[in-house]
Amino acid sequence: MPCILLTGATGYIASHTWLALLEAGWDVVGIDNFCNSSPRVLERLAELSGRVPSFVEGDVRDAQSLDRAFALGQQRWGGVQAVVHFAALKAVGESTEKPLEYFANNIGGLVATCQALQRHTAADQPLRMVFSSSATVYGKPEQLPIREDAPLSATNPYGATKLMGEQILAELQRCDARWLIASLRYFNPVGAHPSGRIGEDPRGVPNNLMPYVAQVAVGQRERLNVFGQDYDTPDGTGVRDYIHICDLADGHVAALRHLFEQGRSLTVNLGTGRGYSVLEVARAYEKASGREVPLHFAPRRPGDVDACYADPTLAAQALGWRARRDIDDMCADSWRWQSQNPRGFNG
Ligand code: NAD
Ligand code: UFG
Repeated sequence: MPCILLTGATGYIASHTWLALLEAGWDVVGIDNFCNSSPRVLERLAELSGRVPSFVEGDVRDAQSLDRAFALGQQRWGGVQAVVHFAALKAVGESTEKPLEYFANNIGGLVATCQALQRHTAADQPLRMVFSSSATVYGKPEQLPIREDAPLSATNPYGATKLMGEQILAELQRCDARWLIASLRYFNPVGAHPSGRIGEDPRGVPNNLMPYVAQVAVGQRERLNVFGQDYDTPDGTGVRDYIHICDLADGHVAALRHLFEQGRSLTVNLGTGRGYSVLEVARAYEKASGREVPLHFAPRRPGDVDACYADPTLAAQALGWRARRDIDDMCADSWRWQSQNPRGFNG
């Protein structure tokens, strides 16, 4: 089986994808600079897979670090044959305070990773890359559910890096037919591996809903601030398409298979097609955890949209992939991770 290089390999989505790839029989090499993840992820991956992870600590903006990762893939598995580029900074609010850091890291990192893939691929071989894009590229959606051909826009620097990332990759394909790109537009990844050994471990106050709810349920935070109750949704709170992290990981395996077997690029939504409101998520979490999630109604968060959920038809048709796990699975697996690791990878 081919060897896949994961950038941002110890992060939340990549660590689950790493396991899914190993389970599907692929070989994996990872690179990460730990700017938003813990080295302990590697111990947990070893425990869960029974294999020593092939890993390089380094920054993807640094050509030498990338060369080391490709060399490790060459030495262990005969060469890297595709890259999944997860490495990026992802906090929307922070991106408005430090836009240049976001452009330097997310755009600089993408370009350096593409250059390294090109450097390490023979001239007659395809250049295969899976790119972590986001539903944020749809800006304020005009129509729901959101199809891939919906208008695109960026409402903050983070979103701009995802939109530009897709554009850069589309230009590469136009210039050189060897590029095979899968841009995956994730909706809202939540939950954890069912073992409870890996999961999301945000630093500081969580920006996102599910990790915040998890910290309230476990007693680390007093109550959930519900941002807005006057949205144009059935109960007035924001509606999103939450997708179980293991379904998302399986989506990457399907996308890689597509690149290898079909030899065609694609841009595709990875979501369930079903939206849940903030109140529905809080209730589902109470049910899964048996704990109360006290609510505090707060003003809207700037930049938030009423509702955002995917049309997942293209993923089903092109990749043969669809999300299988429901909101109860997402909350149960999040709770197992949170309750067994109240301080994430640090205890
Ligand atoms: P994460 O922060 O857990 O993972 C990103 C990883 O990349 C981290 O381990 C971090 O240390 C690493 N990293 C960042 N910059 C790096 C650099 N220059 N060199 C090496 N490593 C670097 O985030 P995640 O939620 O797993 O997100 C993964 C990808 O998916 C990101 O590109 C993100 O923008 C995208 N995405 C995430 C979501 C979400 O809600 N989690 C939604 C849509 C898209
Ligand atoms: N929310 C609260 N309280 C909180 C946190 C969130 O009420 O403490 C609400 C938000 O207002 C929103 C919903 O919960 O209505 C979901 O918010 P998240 O922050 O979890 O998710 P977003 O949809 O705002 O954004 C996430 C990522 C983005 C990504 C987008 C689409 O943070 O980077 O999903 O993939 F672009």
